Amino acid sequence: MTTIRPYYAEKGLSAAFYDTVTAADVRLIGDLEIYAGLLKAPASILELGSGTGRLALALAARGFSVTGIEIAPAMLAQAQAKRGELDPETQRRVEFRRGDMTAVDLKRRFDLVLCAYFTLAHVPRGAAWKNTFDTAARHLDSGGLAAFHLPLVEVMRLPGPASLDLPVLDEPAPTGGRIQLFVRERTFREEVGRLDQVLEYVELDGRGQTLRSSFEKLTYYWTEPKPFAEAAGFTPDRAPILLGGIGEIWVFRKA
Ligand SMILES: C[S@@+](CC[C@H](N)C(=O)[O-])C[C@H]1O[C@@H](n2cnc3c(N)ncnc32)[C@H](O)[C@@H]1O
Repeated sequence: MTTIRPYYAEKGLSAAFYDTVTAADVRLIGDLEIYAGLLKAPASILELGSGTGRLALALAARGFSVTGIEIAPAMLAQAQAKRGELDPETQRRVEFRRGDMTAVDLKRRFDLVLCAYFTLAHVPRGAAWKNTFDTAARHLDSGGLAAFHLPLVEVMRLPGPASLDLPVLDEPAPTGGRIQLFVRERTFREEVGRLDQVLEYVELDGRGQTLRSSFEKLTYYWTEPKPFAEAAGFTPDRAPILLGGIGEIWVFRKA
């Protein structure tokens, strides 16, 4: 029987190859510029679901002061390791902590709260969304900004790839071989706004032989974010910013 891991699990390939896969995803191009353009360095940023530090480290390099909160140890460890390679001055501007964005309370305020690359969609809509917007609100002063990148529901509704045997991604791996990604299952349930996917990661060596394979479950939840934002004391700051044809960044301002 095939074991299906949760996404970002220890020993899973989604965590191990997150940076490779994300760097190859042209649909994310420009997100860093959008977030960096929301305010001027040396403003302070709280990133909810900071992963391997893709954005947090780049924002620190631009002079922002960044705290990243991440729930998955396999992702957090990579962020910590990359932080350790920075020059001491940039290192001082960025920190990563293990935590749950639906509950964390750092007892301090930031200028901007970021919840990038569909991170809010990883938790069930309902109480978890409410609690995440509350987390954003309690870490901002009046006038502070919160940005949430959410998938487009019309893209979530699309069927999976026509051929299950063709990878949706096939990239050189830092290990010298290749990493391939296959969508093995994809089901969207309209009534609950939920997309369930089983993805298979396959790592090949330099001769094309399979080294490792990992089946991982990735679920995204979607609903209108505005009511949750308003309940937490936010107002829309601008029209959502379309990114890569698959998602949009909603920017709210704390009243
Ligand atoms: C798609 S990745 C985004 C990582 C990073 N923000 C980026 O843009 O590259 C989503 C991340 O959110 C984390 N995550 C999911 N639920 C979380 C929660 N409740 N609290 C904190 N982090 C969470 C996952 O472990 C994963 O690292």
